[in-house]
Amino acid sequence: MKRIGILTAGGDTPALNATIHGAVLRACERRIEVFGFIKGFSSLFNPRVPHVRLNPLFTPIPELDTTLGGTLIGASRDYVDANDHPTIAEVVDRLKRLQIEGLICIGGDGTLNGMQALSDHLPTVLAPKTIDNDLGLNYRHEPDEWYREPGPEPGSSRYVRAPSYGKFDLDHMVNYVTPGFATAVFVSAWAVQRIRSTAESHRRIAIIEVMGRHSGYLALGAAYGQPDIVLIPEAPLNVERLVERVISVYELQKNAVIVCGEGIVDERGQELGSETSSTDPAGNKVLTGAADSLRQILIQRLGDTYFTSKRRNESARAAIFTRKVGHTQRGGRPVHFDRFYGVQLGGHSVDLLLEGHVNGVAVLQWSQERGFYIDSVNANDFRDRYGLIHARQVHSSFYDAEALRPSRLGVDYLVPIFSEALGADDMEAVRQSLFRTSNLTQPYHSVNVDINKRIRYLE
Ligand code: F6P
Repeated sequence: MKRIGILTAGGDTPALNATIHGAVLRACERRIEVFGFIKGFSSLFNPRVPHVRLNPLFTPIPELDTTLGGTLIGASRDYVDANDHPTIAEVVDRLKRLQIEGLICIGGDGTLNGMQALSDHLPTVLAPKTIDNDLGLNYRHEPDEWYREPGPEPGSSRYVRAPSYGKFDLDHMVNYVTPGFATAVFVSAWAVQRIRSTAESHRRIAIIEVMGRHSGYLALGAAYGQPDIVLIPEAPLNVERLVERVISVYELQKNAVIVCGEGIVDERGQELGSETSSTDPAGNKVLTGAADSLRQILIQRLGDTYFTSKRRNESARAAIFTRKVGHTQRGGRPVHFDRFYGVQLGGHSVDLLLEGHVNGVAVLQWSQERGFYIDSVNANDFRDRYGLIHARQVHSSFYDAEALRPSRLGVDYLVPIFSEALGADDMEAVRQSLFRTSNLTQPYHSVNVDINKRIRYLE
């Protein structure tokens, strides 16, 4: 191979530039040119295929900075539809004309699904990223548990999951953790600690919503901020238990902090925070308002007198407040863990292409014996019997649905990731950069301005 392409698809994630950097460094070593496609798959749908040479003369461009959040080549949620054969043929033709011999997609489960359509035409490799940590398998045979059954509308079908049989073992997880997750947990846990101050001082109940779609890893990780209650989408909300737990915590300490994943569901499996008709371009349901729904439930169940009788607050409305960590958890400088493994996964993706993997996934594995190590699997390993790739969910053994907290195994899962996730330089970077006088006197200089100057097109 002489030239490969790379793109970043889906939502931005802190370690994207680190992963691109790892790929470009390895490509330089192996004398391969790397074209970065602008804004994910959107570039390939554009007849002019906007792209950037990321290593002219086998030297990484200076804009490629592993400590910069986001992605210097841009991202979008444009998605390759496997049934749209004319578009796929056009994309393949454009890649051929650019002499691209292999493609690295940096993304999550949606990207991997989209990449499958291209993998029949040229070698592709996925380098994983997602703050949701939902790209992976809890155990090797997990995709086999999915099957389809007739849906409510005539001729429709829906996915159902059979109960899991195998014994769960952390060493058997496929892609233990994904770059981006550690940084997002770092921000979320910090947010939880900081919001506690107001809850404690003003005798309030804080409900903090974190991202993660239908997967509760981010909420689970936010437990590092010591919330009193953690609610994850995988465990349907039991209102009685929640109310009981809130009262017991509030009685003791006159404040309570609840963390909820944005995708939490009620006992019928209905998302508390979904705008049902709304989906993003990749078809993902837009989730918003889980914390607000919880607040309404608690306002109703606790009532004003619960707060006024003890002079703790003027009303339930005044006492119970919500905050979303929002895109803060997705942006900014990646922590050491994400940078370190992002770089390695990017480098390994190039090796996989060169070793002839035509539809591979670089993965970050963990075992008691070896700690973290880089490996690879076939994309097919993630696909169910119909070919679809599902988002990984938090395994039930990671969560204590009685105590509404991570279980012992959930703690065991998190510890290897976070015990050394922060580098000394992460805090030092804040100390040195945040209050620079030039931040006040100079306008922000966006990497997009520099990259724009480098964009080339298919003639
Ligand atoms: O998939 C990553 C993610 O951050 C989810 O956790 C969240 O639901 C979604 O993206 C938000 O997407 P957007 O930035 O497009 O609103």
